[in-house]
Amino acid sequence: SKQHHITLLPGDGIGPEIMSVAVEVLNAIALKHDFKFTFTEALIGGAAIDETGEPLPEATLTACRNSDAVLLAAIGGYKWDNLPRHQRPETGLLGMRAGLGLFANLRPATILPQLIDASSLKREIVEGVDIMVVRELTGGIYFGQPKGIFATETGEQRGVNTMAYSVSEIDRIAKVGFETAQKRGGKLCSVDKANVLDVSQLWRDRVTAMAKDYSNVELSHLYVDNAAMQLVRAPKQFDTIVTGNLFGDILSDAAAMLTGSIGMLPSASLGEAGKPGVFEPVHGSAPDIAGQDKANPLAQVLSAAMMLRYGLNESKAATEIEDAVNQVLDKGYRTGDIMSEGMKAVGCQEMGEVLIKLITDN
Ligand code: NAD
Ligand code: IPM
Ligand code: MN
Repeated sequence: SKQHHITLLPGDGIGPEIMSVAVEVLNAIALKHDFKFTFTEALIGGAAIDETGEPLPEATLTACRNSDAVLLAAIGGYKWDNLPRHQRPETGLLGMRAGLGLFANLRPATILPQLIDASSLKREIVEGVDIMVVRELTGGIYFGQPKGIFATETGEQRGVNTMAYSVSEIDRIAKVGFETAQKRGGKLCSVDKANVLDVSQLWRDRVTAMAKDYSNVELSHLYVDNAAMQLVRAPKQFDTIVTGNLFGDILSDAAAMLTGSIGMLPSASLGEAGKPGVFEPVHGSAPDIAGQDKANPLAQVLSAAMMLRYGLNESKAATEIEDAVNQVLDKGYRTGDIMSEGMKAVGCQEMGEVLIKLITDN
């Protein structure tokens, strides 16, 4: 039967806990299909620093390049927060995104009806929310030059980052935005800060110019401050959002909270067609709850489903995982982050066990 070679990057904090649930889910789903997984585990982030001295060992990048897809949990933690920038876990993650050319990050924020009461917003505001944030992932202020902490002529220190986008970078992510909108609700909102930033003016001009190739997509523009406000005021106005690296980082965390918990949100980071994508939750390594069996593994499990759909062309298996997640919630199982009155409190591991039983019995 068909083999899918997956590189697993459990990383730090809650990473290993949620990854082990996702791997068991994948194994359970494979038993019901004519494909198999082979898993190779590799080091990234703090775990890699402790073992090798660097956050992204060459062997990890090579393993990723040689696989069909990469499943990543999360990186980072207090222990490594004071290392020099080039040795920090986050630098490893950014290096992987750049090294694999993952310029498009898809972050869906869908409210599941079972979790409406776990949202911090009113039912009528969040009911039916279904947003896809398309975040540019290998450019903008995360990567622009010059950057660093420099001494000025007076000897004062000055921290510098540069927000820059070239036309080709804007065009390729705008195209993903339009195509995503086309397959969804047909509405694309481009978010920028064109009233202040030149880089955003170029962004807006290019996105506007591309709209003529997508006559069936209704394009709008918002400034990022207004977009943040609109996301919590009336999130249902959004279908697909396309934006730069930093704005997308911030807006996707905000969008995550509409759904009840950041512990529910998966993402897909994609590059050129045919190259391996990386699939990871939107959340981080949650060092505050690591090692306590409290983490919600569902964002990781749903990231594995995105991997099947977008990375391995196994959309039937992806849907089966998503259905099982729905059923677990229907049955009332909740980790702490999505707990509400009358529900059954479970830890990370038990959530995984219930899920696997459902997949096996389905
Ligand atoms: P975080 O997302 O790790 O945590 C924010 C809050 O959400 C915490 O209270 C945490 O307990 C909670 N949370 C997150 N995921 C959860 C889950 N699955 N279940 C239950 N609760 C969950 O963000 P942070 O605290 O700002 O960052 C912690 C570390 O993670 C930092 O080192 C940061 O750089 C890193 N980080 C990594 C990634 C990644 O690997 N992609 C993403 C974001 C942050
Ligand atoms: C994310 C994270 C990362 C980012 C950090 C950890 C580098 O917040 O994946 O959203 O800012 O992209
Ligand atoms: Mn983030």
